[in-house]
Amino acid sequence: TYVITQACVDVLDKACIDECPVDCIYEGERMLYIHPDECVDCGACEPVCPVEAIYYEDDVPDKWKDFYDANVEFFSDLGSPGGAAKTGKIAKDHPLVAALPPQGE
Ligand code: F3S
Ligand code: F3S
Repeated sequence: TYVITQACVDVLDKACIDECPVDCIYEGERMLYIHPDECVDCGACEPVCPVEAIYYEDDVPDKWKDFYDANVEFFSDLGSPGGAAKTGKIAKDHPLVAALPPQGE
């Protein structure tokens, strides 16, 4: 799976959403999360993020390793919704993200 990391927090550019052929990038309150089972590893989202928040799971920088689990665990109580557009914004964040101070300017 691909993974969205801390650079997305409070930025939410959403350019990635338009590139995903399976609509597996879901919106939380402060960042977006990639569904680990719905992602088909196509790589289309990674180059379009203006803040380089997206990485293939094996390439996530060490300082952001916890974001692999954050993306997976975000969906613990959601299962596999099967499409972000129909799901809409989800009113929560992973605890790791919720605890961060405001990011960006
Ligand atoms: Fe976030 Fe980048 Fe997508 S900032 S919403 S991962 S384009
Ligand atoms: Fe979607 Fe492909 Fe990224 S399936 S989440 S655009 S790697």
